[in-house]
Amino acid sequence: MFCCWGPRWGWVPCAPTPWLLLGLLVCAAPFGLLGEETRQVSMKVISGWPNPQNLLHIRAVGSNSTLHYVWSSLGPPAVVMVATNTTQSVLSVNWSRLLSPDPAGGLMVLPKNSIQFSSALVFTRLLEFNSTKVSEGAQPPGKPYSPYSLAKFSWNNITESLDLATLSTIFQGHPVEDPTGAFANGSLAFKVQAFSGSGRPAQPPRLLHTADVCQLEVALVGASPRGNHSLFGLEVATLGHGPDCPSMKEQHSIDDEYAPAVFQLNQLLWGSSPSGFMQWRPVAFSQKQRARESALPCQISSFNPTLGYSLPHSPIVQAFFGSQNNFCAFNLTFGTPTGPGYWDQHYLSWSMLLGVGFPPVDTLSPLVLGVMAVALGAPGLMLLGGGLFLLLRHNQYSEYQSIN
Ligand SMILES: *[C@@H]1O[C@H](CO)[C@@H](O)[C@H](O)[C@H]1NC(C)=O
Ligand SMILES: *[C@@H]1O[C@H](CO)[C@@H](O)[C@H](O)[C@H]1NC(C)=O
Ligand SMILES: *[C@@H]1O[C@H](CO)[C@@H](O)[C@H](O)[C@H]1NC(C)=O
Ligand SMILES: *[C@@H]1O[C@H](CO)[C@@H](O)[C@H](O)[C@H]1NC(C)=O
Ligand SMILES: *[C@@H]1O[C@H](CO)[C@@H](O)[C@H](O)[C@H]1NC(C)=O
Ligand SMILES: *[C@@H]1O[C@H](CO)[C@@H](O)[C@H](O)[C@H]1NC(C)=O
Repeated sequence: MFCCWGPRWGWVPCAPTPWLLLGLLVCAAPFGLLGEETRQVSMKVISGWPNPQNLLHIRAVGSNSTLHYVWSSLGPPAVVMVATNTTQSVLSVNWSRLLSPDPAGGLMVLPKNSIQFSSALVFTRLLEFNSTKVSEGAQPPGKPYSPYSLAKFSWNNITESLDLATLSTIFQGHPVEDPTGAFANGSLAFKVQAFSGSGRPAQPPRLLHTADVCQLEVALVGASPRGNHSLFGLEVATLGHGPDCPSMKEQHSIDDEYAPAVFQLNQLLWGSSPSGFMQWRPVAFSQKQRARESALPCQISSFNPTLGYSLPHSPIVQAFFGSQNNFCAFNLTFGTPTGPGYWDQHYLSWSMLLGVGFPPVDTLSPLVLGVMAVALGAPGLMLLGGGLFLLLRHNQYSEYQSIN
């Protein structure tokens, strides 16, 4: 099993060593000065009238490339992402084919030879585990209740929550059949947001975004859990890269005002950079007011190649990639048997970025850089020289080395 956080993860204010700080200052400063790349982003709901289906197209045009993100709740919620090397590429939808039993060819990005990268993510199931009497760190985190298939959810009309000012919309759904009434007052929401430049949201986990990414915030709100200590999770499937599954990378990031006490950044990479990536901090929140007190760790399982393992079909994925695909699935689970949990307020939220190109690199905030510059001053520069020397000699970063 692969965990999102190491044994040292926690909400302990643990100060990085001076050597690390110096090293980071040296490495981080040049990135901090990079200019911002912008894209012309449009967000459109593509109507399949009279078919009441949500199909969202985000088209982000740069100086010599165009990115396409197509999100849909046709079947389980899914996104197809495509990067092209022209500013002219367009999405073409054939609704009658997309809605047919054999949707292959119903979704295309043209011209086809401009496509540099394409992949997809499918959110297949909402998982629930009974974590009573389960030891900390166990995987799975308890006995699974029968999962909710997201292909059997009914979703709102995304046109109604489309906000072109913030380039966002929300897919909000609940199970079509809900015999126990667990979702009578609850819903699962996928908030999708695009950006025309780089920046950082005001709310934790404050992931740094560029114009090349889409942000997804998943929120489970108000649904009745089936036990007193239910932990929730999401099963996610993605397309493999050839015969292989994408690779998972854990990066240590900087304890900074942007991300206090969350030292890790997790990445899923479809190939060697620049390709596609999914990036998130291993943290979820159990309250709308996202703070340390309501932070839950997020764990990720290893990949499960899905031969002989049935996943609900995503029509948009089949429409773009055809029906012969190699899927890799993994589970994300949120929370631990002890500590804050969904049970506190019947609330859970988690965020991630999905993008193409180089994953955004966290840098120290200007405030922290300023404080360090003042604090270090001239003696700091001498230390810096000494620090570099030591680093080169020992090259020993054991505590901060990424675990692959
Ligand atoms: C969503 O609502 C808009 C207007 O509010 C309407 O034009 C559209 O047909 C609706 N779409 C679906 C999928 O019901
Ligand atoms: C795309 O544009 C960037 C910056 O404008 C440039 O560095 C790069 O070489 C261009 N790539 C191609 C394939 O033209
Ligand atoms: C859409 O697909 C249908 C069914 O496969 C096909 O008959 C039709 O020609 C296609 N329409 C366009 C515009 O390509
Ligand atoms: C849903 O909310 C209503 C009104 O607030 C309440 O009476 C009802 O018990 C709730 N149902 C569930 C399943 O929580
Ligand atoms: C859940 O909590 C209620 C009230 O606190 C208690 O009566 C019940 O036995 C608990 N159920 C389980 C399965 O622990
Ligand atoms: C996710 O968890 C569920 C419930 O424990 C399990 O049935 C499923 O096989 C897991 N999926 C993956 C990809 O590990």
